[in-house]
Amino acid sequence: MSKIVEKYAELPRPLRKPLWRIWHRMITNYDTDTSAVFMNYGYASENGEFSKLKLLKEDEPDRYSIQLYHHVARNFNLEGKDVLEVGSGRGGGASFLTRYFKPNSYIGLDISQKTIDFCNARHKVKGLSFIKGHAEKLPFDNESKDAVVNVESARCYGNIPAFFAEVSRILKPDGKFLFTDMIKPEDVETINRQLEEAGFKVVEKKNIRQNVVKALILDTEYRKSHIHSKAPKMFHKMFYQFAGVEGSERFDAFDKNRIDYWSYTLTKNQ
Ligand SMILES: C[S@@+](CC[C@H](N)C(=O)[O-])C[C@H]1O[C@@H](n2cnc3c(N)ncnc32)[C@H](O)[C@@H]1O
Repeated sequence: MSKIVEKYAELPRPLRKPLWRIWHRMITNYDTDTSAVFMNYGYASENGEFSKLKLLKEDEPDRYSIQLYHHVARNFNLEGKDVLEVGSGRGGGASFLTRYFKPNSYIGLDISQKTIDFCNARHKVKGLSFIKGHAEKLPFDNESKDAVVNVESARCYGNIPAFFAEVSRILKPDGKFLFTDMIKPEDVETINRQLEEAGFKVVEKKNIRQNVVKALILDTEYRKSHIHSKAPKMFHKMFYQFAGVEGSERFDAFDKNRIDYWSYTLTKNQ
């Protein structure tokens, strides 16, 4: 099972959707105190980027996952804006951005009904809601959103160019696409070309692999303690892999530079 987690992005595309549904069901079953609200590898700063990011006490344990969201949204003022997040998972990032940056509306979209039900019950925040949907067919009008957020999710999609085209379609002419994900070094050029073909211009792009590695090192103990307190022992190795803790193959892949991690701020090419 931990091999499936490691090789997920190389599995045949039709298998990926059902696997996410199984995975969400499993996490919802084990996360009985509803404290697991992030599913990303996190981001640690190397230059005091977060010296001004004061978190509420209840958010502090998720600092590194939160910092990844803070980082990806850093170039755009969300206040009063209409925002869509695609692949919002267990909603922690959507809740953080809505509570701290006050968009007019923030919709989190995910393919798993289980996780959408979880999020609508767990995150009661003004302006925030969650709906089931598919990244390649977004249920929104043309030019209806100011920003689309996408964190560590696009690599799961069957057709990434179709997703980029959908984001471009629903963004307003000056809208921003705030995108971050792990990308193999040999695939970076293809992703850059696909973004350009979908009509995006790069405002800023950055390889943040080292920030992710640093976050995983700093967060390994917390991630393991979460896994130990929730999941049966037989699944620990699989969850270590998913969580990217030090010693897992996923951590090694980042650490040894077999996988990069990029963040992009993109604007529509008008
Ligand atoms: C690694 S999780 C990241 C979740 C969240 N962004 C975070 O950082 O905590 C990837 C998410 O993408 C969702 N996902 C995968 N394929 C999708 C698709 N085709 N459309 C919408 N969401 C999808 C999964 O269900 C999962 O919740």
